[in-house]
Amino acid sequence: MLNDLTSTLSLLETRRSARPRELVGPGPTAAEMGRILTIASRVPDHGMLSPWRFVTVAGDQREALAGLLLRALEARDGAVTDAHRDKESSFAHYRGQLVVLISAPVQNHKIPVWEQEVSCGAAGMNLLLAAHALGYVGGWVTGWRAYDEQVRVAFCGPGERIAGFIFIGKPGRELEERTRAPLATVARPWSPAVP
Ligand SMILES: Cc1cc2nc3c(=O)[nH]c(=O)nc-3n(C[C@H](O)[C@H](O)[C@H](O)COP(=O)(O)O)c2cc1C
Repeated sequence: MLNDLTSTLSLLETRRSARPRELVGPGPTAAEMGRILTIASRVPDHGMLSPWRFVTVAGDQREALAGLLLRALEARDGAVTDAHRDKESSFAHYRGQLVVLISAPVQNHKIPVWEQEVSCGAAGMNLLLAAHALGYVGGWVTGWRAYDEQVRVAFCGPGERIAGFIFIGKPGRELEERTRAPLATVARPWSPAVP
């Protein structure tokens, strides 16, 4: 039990993201993906609304994704450069598995949309942790693609939005630790204002 606890804590203390463009494939197997997504679904969820979706993009769908991104890009900006086209095509073909995380809040419900969006964020976090626990690394990115209407409707139903593109694979190189906020800057004892 102690060893289990120690390894769980060390897992939480060591998780870090990879840059999706640096991942190497093929990423988790179908069985592992099932496990990762099951764990991702196991999050606090006020009202049990499951206000998130996981849309997986298969390896043989990456060309279709590239086409979608290029069409969306051209529609946004007529003056698209070859460099930008290459960037989107590369994005669509990043190695590993791709999960598009969708925020799917139930509108006009007594549970505020904000709480449902927080639950979606928790699902993304659990997904990254599950990937890490299975020996993979994830990278959660958004960018213009996550906010484009043409891309949105290709992944989302009405009232839904893209919370991120999460790529899961093996790191192509040793991951560097980033600067983390010192605990004292993000945590403090409550000091109620005196009226
Ligand atoms: C909703 C969301 C969107 C993000 N979008 C991007 C992005 O488009 N590009 C990027 O470089 N990092 C993005 N990040 C940050 C990375 O996913 C990651 O958190 C960051 O590289 C730090 O890595 P860490 O997970 O090891 O702390 C996003 C994070 C979140 C939560």
